[in-house]
Amino acid sequence: MRTLVSLQHVITDATKNLPSIDLTLVTGDLVHDASTAGYSLLKKQLTHLGTPTYCLPGNHDDPKALKKALSGNPIDTPFSIQKKNWSIILLDSNLPGSTKGHLDKTQLDKLQDCLSNHPDRHTLICLHHHTTPVKSRWLDTMILDNADEFFTITDHHPQIKGITCGHIHQSFEAKRNGTLLMGSPSTCFQFTPQSIDFDIDNKSPGYRFLTLLSDGSIITKVIHLKSFTNSIDRSSSGY
Ligand SMILES: [Fe+2]
Repeated sequence: MRTLVSLQHVITDATKNLPSIDLTLVTGDLVHDASTAGYSLLKKQLTHLGTPTYCLPGNHDDPKALKKALSGNPIDTPFSIQKKNWSIILLDSNLPGSTKGHLDKTQLDKLQDCLSNHPDRHTLICLHHHTTPVKSRWLDTMILDNADEFFTITDHHPQIKGITCGHIHQSFEAKRNGTLLMGSPSTCFQFTPQSIDFDIDNKSPGYRFLTLLSDGSIITKVIHLKSFTNSIDRSSSGY
């Protein structure tokens, strides 16, 4: 699939069809080969959103190259942002050389500090890897490998209302102690839910729209492009 074209269609759809957007979250695997040229091209595309745009790395990214290319304004790579009575935290779950995710001590300590410093703010946590199994055997081998350490922290902070990830290329929703766990479709191809091995779904590129309300509730919906001609090489056994 020509992923640049599908991304452009997603950006056009979001800017045309959504009500005013306060900010955009880009949850990892931004550039497949983690090249400087790739990040530079992505930056140009993201400016078309016309919103503050916050990025975090996935397993295909080089976190240093990503940070170098995408730190600034309106595109940035912060650890956390505060907006109205919400905190949004962006974690780096990249584990070099692995498709699995891992939160190192620095990330966990910063998470703990941010939650302790803002107990009165409703909180949305974003990271690339899924933190709970999605019942897809091959994808669940690439889960966050220290989710127990992550949940040991988050379970003690009831201000956390949502945890959202990329990585799984599909819509996913579950609840953990009242916290909404969300996965988002990819801006390119989708993986078939609950598949045992690698399998591409027929769904078109998409994104997730979130409304964070002042009482801490989250309204969310997943949007797939209505008119996108899929041009996937379906004979591919991987990507
Ligand atoms: Fe990924």
